[in-house]
Amino acid sequence: MPLFAADTITAIIDCRQPALARHFGVAECRWWKERDEPVSDRADAQRLAWDSVAAGWQKWWPTIESGAGSVSDRMIELAEIEPGQRVLDIATGIGEPALVAARLVGPAGRVVATDISTGMLDIARKRALASGLTNVAFVEADAARLDFHEGSFDAVLWRWGPTDLSNPSNTLVAIRRMLTPGGSFATAVWQAGPDARPLARHAMSVACGMFDAPSGCAQEPTPPERSLEQELLHAGFSEVRVEAMTLTLAFASTDDCTRYLMDVSPVFAALLSDRSPGQLAEYRRRLAAALRQYVTADGSVRIPNVTLCAVGRR
Ligand SMILES: C[S@@+](CC[C@H](N)C(=O)[O-])C[C@H]1O[C@@H](n2cnc3c(N)ncnc32)[C@H](O)[C@@H]1O
Repeated sequence: MPLFAADTITAIIDCRQPALARHFGVAECRWWKERDEPVSDRADAQRLAWDSVAAGWQKWWPTIESGAGSVSDRMIELAEIEPGQRVLDIATGIGEPALVAARLVGPAGRVVATDISTGMLDIARKRALASGLTNVAFVEADAARLDFHEGSFDAVLWRWGPTDLSNPSNTLVAIRRMLTPGGSFATAVWQAGPDARPLARHAMSVACGMFDAPSGCAQEPTPPERSLEQELLHAGFSEVRVEAMTLTLAFASTDDCTRYLMDVSPVFAALLSDRSPGQLAEYRRRLAAALRQYVTADGSVRIPNVTLCAVGRR
């Protein structure tokens, strides 16, 4: 049975946005949480973890988006999104690339933005209202359990996340099914390997050297069974293209890098937030030393990251 028992996506409008419900011409709206669906421990843990950093995403948004905005733009180009289209943004966080897509599809189009975290969606909703966008609906949903009707969307976007799922293949097959024939799926995932995300790598390595950190510390991460291109082809997508993009995160200081990690990353928030002031000071000192190569003459820090952007068609 579909998660959203509705003939069209219009029946899943966020109940707290009556104006939006009217815009889509629906009287009824509901939350999937209220449908007595069993919610797994995994999904609950993910929701709580991401809720805990939602405010941090808002705080650091200018930093995040000054690097990540170009990735949204490229995904939208690759997906060839046009005015009037129906777009799904999976795991939208505080609303991107959903809001960029909503501006592009215009009043004749519509965007559904999903996320597992209520906290993230609350901020996304406020950003949409502040931008005067009335063609985007926000839906709390686990990406692994999305079940929109076949052919519901002209394009599906997913900026950072598919590789975090326990079974990305099943989800990719489900995404393809939700597309219209010829519709496109564009995604971004971090490149594998030690140089793709230097801040996360150095920060974890410092944590591993100082604390009784997670068991994964000493091991190289297991490489994925398939490359991103292979995953998309395996799920049945055609015209698959994958390209690498470099985006730079800029911070005022190395101390800001520690604050950023504690504010936006559920992993580092869990690792660092209960440490003593002395431990945190030592952590900052060691991370600053590890990041020396990225510090510029004025003390600010510029860290390049490599993401893969991919597109495939149904
Ligand atoms: C790295 S953030 C990316 C957010 C947004 N796409 C962006 O690029 O700014 C990951 C997002 O995925 C969401 N998320 C994590 N697990 C999820 C799941 N199983 N289903 C749906 N959303 C999930 C989190 O709540 C968070 O908002």
